[in-house]
Amino acid sequence: MPSPFVRHVLVCTQDKPDGVPCCARKGGPGLLDALRAEVAKRDLADDVLVTGCGCMGLCDRGPNAIVYPEGRWYTEVRPDEAHRIAEEHLSGGAPLTGRGDPDDDTIRREVAAHRAKVRQALAARAKAGVLPDELNALVRGFQPSRVVLTAVELDLFSAVGDGASAAEVAARLQTHPRATEALLNALVALGLLEKQDERFRNGDWAALYLCAGAAHDSRAALMHSVHLWPRWSTLTECVRKGTAVAFDEMAGRSQDWTEAFIAAMHKGATARAQPVVAALELEGVRRVLDLGGGSGAYAMAFTRARPEIEVTVFDLPTVTPLTRRYVADSGVQGRIHTLDGDLRTDSYGSGYDLVFISAICHMNGPGENLDMLRKVKDALNPGGRVVIQDFILNEEKTAPTFAALFALNMLVGTREGSAYSDAEYANWLAEAGFGDVNRVALPGPTDLMVAVKP
Ligand SMILES: C[S@@+](CC[C@H](N)C(=O)[O-])C[C@H]1O[C@@H](n2cnc3c(N)ncnc32)[C@H](O)[C@@H]1O
Ligand code: FES
Repeated sequence: MPSPFVRHVLVCTQDKPDGVPCCARKGGPGLLDALRAEVAKRDLADDVLVTGCGCMGLCDRGPNAIVYPEGRWYTEVRPDEAHRIAEEHLSGGAPLTGRGDPDDDTIRREVAAHRAKVRQALAARAKAGVLPDELNALVRGFQPSRVVLTAVELDLFSAVGDGASAAEVAARLQTHPRATEALLNALVALGLLEKQDERFRNGDWAALYLCAGAAHDSRAALMHSVHLWPRWSTLTECVRKGTAVAFDEMAGRSQDWTEAFIAAMHKGATARAQPVVAALELEGVRRVLDLGGGSGAYAMAFTRARPEIEVTVFDLPTVTPLTRRYVADSGVQGRIHTLDGDLRTDSYGSGYDLVFISAICHMNGPGENLDMLRKVKDALNPGGRVVIQDFILNEEKTAPTFAALFALNMLVGTREGSAYSDAEYANWLAEAGFGDVNRVALPGPTDLMVAVKP
């Protein structure tokens, strides 16, 4: 049978615990990127597939790559050799010679010896009851998270700037030099910084997302995750009590908190708004209500999609000034209005063709959602639609993982909020008097529930 690709390159990117030789720490991921770039540069992507793979058993010789159909093993490959491999082997069809790679017998012997060693080590660990690495990583997962959040909170990546010593970073941040150096070193270990000759530089992600002047500066939005940390520390107590123990109403939160929250929502919404709006049939829709519309990112997408659409963004009076600022910055003013109110206690007006409710239902308890949907029905014209966007759980409420964890995010941060299953949404919608209830699957973590007012 003909193969869909002329060649397949497998590059080992396996990571292993500290101290155990592995390709991930010998440059495997960099080699994978370099080979992909060389293949793209030569316009070979339709003929040559380059993929990462797990351990091949020659870890001491990493990073390793194999090219099929020849089955040629390249060991200890330097990133600057990617060019030669692509030019001579992937493009020219001539496997490289004279690199000193082991012959087939040596490879077979070393792989077999490696397998035996791994089996022995696993058996010894199992006997001694040592925690599996994955379980250990799960238990200690808070440590890397806290390191990154502290760096974001201190604005450390901006202080590193174009490169700085630990003492210079500490002086810029007015932090303790010894502690700052430990934090910088940990960030190198986590791959966010690089270190050479006692000087630190931002790695690719830090330079792109985490520092002042970055092309996709995400610092304001990430401050929301910084603010979530204290709440998550109360999870044990929340599970005992069944509700958030450090609860404060959204309307009463500090301006800093609200700004970071709306910035985080805006970042996510801006990426999703266009495909979400494109998934909806908007023929005949004139007036849209965006309930809890935050920054107005979805309102902007609705007005961009159809010139006849006007959107009212309903949100708390502490938030609508931010909405107006985001809308003014976007340049799509005129057809977006704001309406101050509390969605739990106030009515939403009337005469809408579509009510959009994005990332709102999870803040509420089941009874609050039913009340809200009844008021939404009152606000809609006959034949009008309600569109709910949220993290929707499966029937057992155990997947997707993001939604299952999000239910806890709501437990620690709200009185009654949670993540819900599509059966729960469908029941509330039916009980509120909607018909034609439909789930619309979207790529990514959220889906839509759409229903029609008869
Ligand atoms: C998770 S954000 C979602 C924002 C936006 N809909 C989106 O999908 O990106 C929740 C929004 O609901 C607003 N909100 C929270 N409680 C509210 C209330 N009681 N009344 C009105 N709006 C509220 C917040 O200000 C925020 O804009
Ligand atoms: S980790 Fe790459 S060959 Fe073992």
